[in-house]
Amino acid sequence: NTRVWQVSGTAPQAGELAEAAALMREGGTIAFPTETVYGLGADARRTEAVERIFGAKGRPSDNPLIVHIADTAQLAELTLPLGAEEAALAERLMARFWPGPLTLVLPVKPGAVSPRVTAGLDTVAVRMPAHPVALQLIAESGCPLAAPSANRSGRPSPTLAAHVRDDLSGRIDGIVDGGAAGVGLESTVVEIAGGDSVRILRPGGVTAEALREVAAHVAYDAVAAPGAGMGEGGTAADAAAAPRSPGMKYAHYAPQGLMQLVKGEPDAVSAYIRAETAAARERGERTGVLAFAEHAARYDADCVLVVGSLAQLETAAHGLYGALREFDARGVQRIWAETCPEHGIGHALMNRLAKAAGHAVVRV
Ligand code: TXA
Ligand code: MG
Repeated sequence: NTRVWQVSGTAPQAGELAEAAALMREGGTIAFPTETVYGLGADARRTEAVERIFGAKGRPSDNPLIVHIADTAQLAELTLPLGAEEAALAERLMARFWPGPLTLVLPVKPGAVSPRVTAGLDTVAVRMPAHPVALQLIAESGCPLAAPSANRSGRPSPTLAAHVRDDLSGRIDGIVDGGAAGVGLESTVVEIAGGDSVRILRPGGVTAEALREVAAHVAYDAVAAPGAGMGEGGTAADAAAAPRSPGMKYAHYAPQGLMQLVKGEPDAVSAYIRAETAAARERGERTGVLAFAEHAARYDADCVLVVGSLAQLETAAHGLYGALREFDARGVQRIWAETCPEHGIGHALMNRLAKAAGHAVVRV
């Protein structure tokens, strides 16, 4: 059975995390909040502990895990030194974005973590989360924590402890409930691409615009580029190419209902969605619309959910996964979703939404 600890998300009290940290040291699996989404942590050095993560999630074993640290000093135990120019860039990225939603893919020090963490790659993904509960749990356990998002594989990532409970109750040792996660989307995964360049392997909480303030060049892996999987720039061929971040090849985040994204001028989008929902309701289907706050009143589907505000896309990032889960809870069979421009956090938002829709995008 799964223990639950209620803690303050902003200032966990001394001792509140002691049991969870002790279980972690003994090879347990504990879910905890981060500033992006909830993670499911275990000691990254212990294969049997890491295997429990894969088992609980039903995660494919070729998809490597991110290792979470609380102190940059832990980096030297996990990774090999970089060349001078790469090291200088890594230092600047860490100084600017850690703790925070940036994951760095670095050469792994042989034997430093279980081979199950890296899925046989010669690199390891590392991040320092900007969440007081996560940082204290890592520090108190004394372990580098391998932690994927704390959802069953294929489900939307959890942004509340209740989402973790729905997916993993009975399958893991404990859940530290520290309230809602922050950003609502996962971290940005980057690799240092030689010299003063980074390559984005998965868009996320740190935007390309912010990375450009620190790195001379910001490139994208094909599957992570703006437009990839959205019917522009991105194509089926992009989706088929082997991504440098293995997780990008899996269908993710999908609600149970069939979802389609609708791109175009707002009035044309609304007219299309209104006509489609009306037709689907006549066929007896339970319909849903995922809309921005500015347009929600235009729809009369069975379930109209506001993802957030177009004027403040951070609110939509925060609301996306909860909304996808809500469609499931309400038994919605057909979903139409509005889209937004792919800049700033809008890039990661559309990346996740396109995956949730299985890349079904219509332009009207
Ligand atoms: O925000 C986050 O990153 C959350 C929280 C819990 O920290 N974690 C998370 O983990 O999203 P997960 O397992 O759901 O996604 C990890 C991603 C996958 O796409 C995986 O393929 C990639 O990181 N990854 C891990 N190690 C890698 C490596 N060595 N090289 C390339 N990609 C890697
Ligand atoms: Mg995940």
